[in-house]
Amino acid sequence: MNDLFLRACRREPTERTPLWLMRQAGRYLPEYRALREKYGFLDLIREPELAAEVTLQPLRRFPLDAAILFADILTPLVGAGIGVRFTPGPVLERPVRRSRDLDPLRSFDPGEAVPETLEAVRLLKRELSVPLLGFVGAPFTLACYLVDGKGTKDFPLTRALLYREPELGREIMEVLGEVVAKYAAAQVAAGADAVQVFDSWAHLLPAALLERSEGPALRRIFSAVRDAGAPSVYYANGVFQLLDLLGDLGCDVVGADWRVPLDAYDVLRDRMAVQGNLDPAVLFGTEEVIRREVREVLRRAGARPGHVFNLGHGLHRKTPLRSVEALVTAVREESTR
Ligand code: CP3
Repeated sequence: MNDLFLRACRREPTERTPLWLMRQAGRYLPEYRALREKYGFLDLIREPELAAEVTLQPLRRFPLDAAILFADILTPLVGAGIGVRFTPGPVLERPVRRSRDLDPLRSFDPGEAVPETLEAVRLLKRELSVPLLGFVGAPFTLACYLVDGKGTKDFPLTRALLYREPELGREIMEVLGEVVAKYAAAQVAAGADAVQVFDSWAHLLPAALLERSEGPALRRIFSAVRDAGAPSVYYANGVFQLLDLLGDLGCDVVGADWRVPLDAYDVLRDRMAVQGNLDPAVLFGTEEVIRREVREVLRRAGARPGHVFNLGHGLHRKTPLRSVEALVTAVREESTR
């Protein structure tokens, strides 16, 4: 097996920098769009063969160093009985307003809620020659969808709830922390080699509130992944100034968004690896521009071990395929030691 990704997560030397891409499976691929003409998004996730197929699609085109399971951060909640439609973003049938709205999530059992996703992991492990990343949503980011009920610019209802009903806020974080910890551990038990925690909306919280409200649940999740025997990646968007908090959560890799110069994380690198952080918009530039920006990310990452190359956020759905090709080639060539 190509274990460059796992070696970089452990900050061991690698002969080149491993690469995978957030949203590497999805709508920029014509073969994904073709499947979506026949199946709904949730149908793809609920049929293990199809979820495995979609996971493998980008790897057939590009020599990437890790696969990421095809699912969504909301699907464990759907499996537990929370009504969600995808349009394509998630829309909740009944947003969470009170403690009893959390009842479907109490005593969450991954084997009952998401058997298809765990089966997809097992199928993929038989096929893959690169590590398989499982993933979960972070409690605050999941809470944003549960409470506001859909994607919004700044999730006003969720943020107000944390101050107006702090007790309910704590309960939501605790319940989600438990659900996500169990779901993450189940993915590892089924064969996932690492787990990434996506916290796309963390930057909406003041630092002290992030620490106080989400911190305990995040620590619980990272320790569950560690106990299950796999490294964890924390990708939070827009939180690079919170280095003390990031250094103290118990994750093995910190994911950087595209706005941060990667060397801003140097102070953490005796404790964790870094992942990132090419601006996804670079892929709308020419091949020369892509190569120049790849070099810049690699220069900021420096010579020390413990860098996983990635984008600073997910691939845009209009990304040209030849740009992804150019990116993969540039990272391979420019990072070979
Ligand atoms: O390739 C991969 O990265 C794995 C699959 C994956 C999806 N969603 C598939 C998907 C992953 C890791 C996610 C994570 C996710 N889902 C996040 C965190 C990452 C981030 O982007 O910040 C969030 C916030 C969600 C919630 C969600 N699901 C949104 C906002 C959307 C709409 C996104 C869009 O691009 O329009 C979805 C739907 C979704 N999840 C799609 C895919 C491929 C599009 C669905 C379709 O085919 O219609």
